[in-house]
Amino acid sequence: MYKIVEREVLVPNIVHIKVEAPYVAQAAQPGQFVILRVDEQGERFPMSLADWDREKGTINIAFFVLGTSTMKLAALKEGDSILDCVGPLGNPTEIENYGNVLLACGCFGIGPTIKLAEALKEKGNKIISVMEARSKAYLFWQDRLRDVSDEFHVVVGDSSYGKKEWTNDFIQEYLRAGNKVDIIFAHGCPFMMMECSKASKPFGVKTIVSLTTIMVDGTGMCGSCRITVGEETKFACVDGPEFDGHEVDWDNLIMRQRRYIPQEYRSFSLWERDNWHKIMDVALYEKEKLLMMQQG
Ligand SMILES: Cc1cc2nc3c(=O)[nH]c(=O)nc-3n(C[C@H](O)[C@H](O)[C@H](O)COP(=O)(O)OP(=O)(O)OC[C@H]3O[C@@H](n4cnc5c(N)ncnc54)[C@H](O)[C@@H]3O)c2cc1C
Ligand code: FES
Repeated sequence: MYKIVEREVLVPNIVHIKVEAPYVAQAAQPGQFVILRVDEQGERFPMSLADWDREKGTINIAFFVLGTSTMKLAALKEGDSILDCVGPLGNPTEIENYGNVLLACGCFGIGPTIKLAEALKEKGNKIISVMEARSKAYLFWQDRLRDVSDEFHVVVGDSSYGKKEWTNDFIQEYLRAGNKVDIIFAHGCPFMMMECSKASKPFGVKTIVSLTTIMVDGTGMCGSCRITVGEETKFACVDGPEFDGHEVDWDNLIMRQRRYIPQEYRSFSLWERDNWHKIMDVALYEKEKLLMMQQG
């Protein structure tokens, strides 16, 4: 069992947990992920490592509440445990001295990007980071990313924070303005990573994306995470999760990510019907915690 030692709601629908997992923490490297199973009835699902502490033996995960598994995970409180946590899985990011590195991130990609920025900075790279959210209210950990960046930018999809634009618009403008960028890393939802890859392609700047295909075993055996990259078949769990975004067959990837929507919808409806009290419990717990914090 893997105990949750900290839990906080970062912004609406995104939860951050710190979990005791000493073996994972010991071996973790930027770009890797774990596969979790919340309870006996639960499915296996992957989560990127947003941070880790080797001394304390903890790992951090930031997740977007989407369906049954992430809702089950969000319904756990500090002191509760996760049944399984396997990892670290996947190939670590290749940390080299590239020169000027542009890091584009959004949503659950923000934590892993901060870890990546730290490692790339240590290698002597110049870090230009751009964080995306659909509105100002959905931004988090700006200070942490700003601290490890030489240049830090924020873009939002509405007009709540300056100019309305997304990371792909930023990349296009930044490259069009003649700024030198040697490599781009993008981490966030598949649509964002696809658009970033499309934006950089005409400029020939290599763009590495961290793919979120549907995974089951995470060890190359089930075939669920199959993707096409440069006309070759790859398995995101063992060959990735990072790939050259200009080579990824995005249409096929997005189609395969959507293949269980009817079953996912049914699963969530059934779980919600029997477990709505857990969501209420956790909302009350959040409220109490907030009151206690306000009272010192
Ligand atoms: C390497 C990797 C790292 C990831 N890191 C994070 C992260 O740090 N934070 C985060 O919020 N999300 C992350 N994801 C996505 C996360 O795994 C899915 O959002 C989660 O499994 C959804 O499960 P659900 O039951 O809540 O939703 P469901 O309703 O079951 O599914 C909603 C959608 O999530 C995707 N999904 C469902 N099951 C899986 C699965 N087993 N594997 C991958 N995708 C699935 C599908 O596109 C599906 O349509 C990562 C995915 C991968 C492959
Ligand atoms: S998750 Fe099974 S082969 Fe990749």
